[in-house]
Amino acid sequence: MKCVKCNGNAVINIRRANAAFCKEHFNEYFTEQTLKSIKQFRMFRKTDKIMVCVSGGKDSLVLWHVLHNLGCDVTGMYIDLGINGYSDRSKEKVTAFADKFGLKTIIVDLREKGYPIPFVARRAKREDCAVCGTIKRYYFNRAAYDGGFDVVATGHNLDDEASRLLANIMHWNDEYMDNTYPVLPAGGKMLKKKVKPLVRLTERETAAFAILNGIDYVMEECPMSKGATSLIFKEALSTIEDKMAGTEIFFYTKFLERVKDKDRSKTDSDEMKICQTCGMESFMDKCTFCRLVEKVK
Ligand code: FES
Ligand code: ZN
Ligand code: ZN
Repeated sequence: MKCVKCNGNAVINIRRANAAFCKEHFNEYFTEQTLKSIKQFRMFRKTDKIMVCVSGGKDSLVLWHVLHNLGCDVTGMYIDLGINGYSDRSKEKVTAFADKFGLKTIIVDLREKGYPIPFVARRAKREDCAVCGTIKRYYFNRAAYDGGFDVVATGHNLDDEASRLLANIMHWNDEYMDNTYPVLPAGGKMLKKKVKPLVRLTERETAAFAILNGIDYVMEECPMSKGATSLIFKEALSTIEDKMAGTEIFFYTKFLERVKDKDRSKTDSDEMKICQTCGMESFMDKCTFCRLVEKVK
């Protein structure tokens, strides 16, 4: 297998692009695809202060690395979820990565706060992943606001977004389909704009980028995510892609074309209140996070 750019030995074959690349040209391709999304969806400007949500997994660490290499002002924000073993190992990867590349980091430890996910879920009698979503969203929003960031970036990739879109279509969840858009506008005065620069790249490609560039990431999935239905949709898409290369990106990008003119400029700022407990913006007098953690006190 030869690189389509230099005819050297290729390290990866990308069937949907009908191309194979050597390490150097794969890195170039990966960065170009990231930049294409950043420009096409006007994700941020060169001078913007970016916060990347990192989990210790490949996608978020790779995104952090690519944005840093592009010269962006980027800080990694990690939340220790308090899941014994898994959280310890993922935190280790994040801190080792930040040290290796000299990157700025914010760490919030839920064990120190008294809200480790398994404990809150048990006390509140709710699913771990639902509790985790609420708590993570809260601390990411909080850190982005307190830190004066312009934009929050996440490592969602093509497989994540296409499979989420497929799931929403199969359940006819019209109201959630727009969540798969690569840019989610700021809400109210405190909630920052969210962007997903890796939406044109697959999980296989982020894993290859990580390995080729010495990015050591936590390979295990969160133990709480076992049996998640999202994995079923990912598997289904991967089977289709295997038989018909290019179908996944076609499916996702055609959707984006169809909804690109939707008015996303309106924010909910007029309807927003201030949470009486924590001071963050909320649709109610008390925000979802404060209502949740109240149950565990
Ligand atoms: Fe949130 Fe696993 S990452 S429960
Ligand atoms: Zn090459
Ligand atoms: Zn609150």
